[in-house]
Amino acid sequence: MFGVVSAGLMATYYYIENKKEKSKPQYVGTPDLGGPFTLVDHFGRPKTDLDFKGKYMFIYFGFTFCPDICPTELRKMALVMEDLRKLGYDKEVQPLFISVDPWRDTVEQIRGYITEFHPAFLGLTGTPEQVMKAAKAYRVYSSRPPNQVPTEEESDDYLVDHTIFMYLVGPDGKFLDYYGQQKTADEITQSLAKHIRTNKARY
Ligand code: NI
Repeated sequence: MFGVVSAGLMATYYYIENKKEKSKPQYVGTPDLGGPFTLVDHFGRPKTDLDFKGKYMFIYFGFTFCPDICPTELRKMALVMEDLRKLGYDKEVQPLFISVDPWRDTVEQIRGYITEFHPAFLGLTGTPEQVMKAAKAYRVYSSRPPNQVPTEEESDDYLVDHTIFMYLVGPDGKFLDYYGQQKTADEITQSLAKHIRTNKARY
């Protein structure tokens, strides 16, 4: 929740930003992010990355007990989904919330939480190992690795420090883009729409 960013990803990010300023290239390399995951959705159905092929995955990692940053980012994603609807692109995009707190984020907990933001959202959770494997694929830092089971003393009163980025994966399963906290809903919508249009023009 405090906005910790993995050093590797941040380095890539600055690299891209600097390049953009200097020469305004079309596109400067895409970080090698993403990969297979096996999780369970907020209806209790098993889901893998392959279930979303043919759609854009619009992904955010967080936890339902996050006091402020996650709700802010999820509201932003909901706004993006509404703006995409106006452009006629919403059906092509699947917004996903992947928990980094599998101990408290049960299927029921996520169902009650994520549907408040936008009906299109699917919340995903799993075993600590499944969740961390997904997070690792996107280089998402989480302060609570799978072996760090919450103690009885902590009870429900702990925070999970985690990376704050939204990720866009194409219908072919290839990673396309990511958006940091500083991006506005409008900027993200424009970027998603651009990716979708570019992809359409290709076929
Ligand atoms: Ni958070």
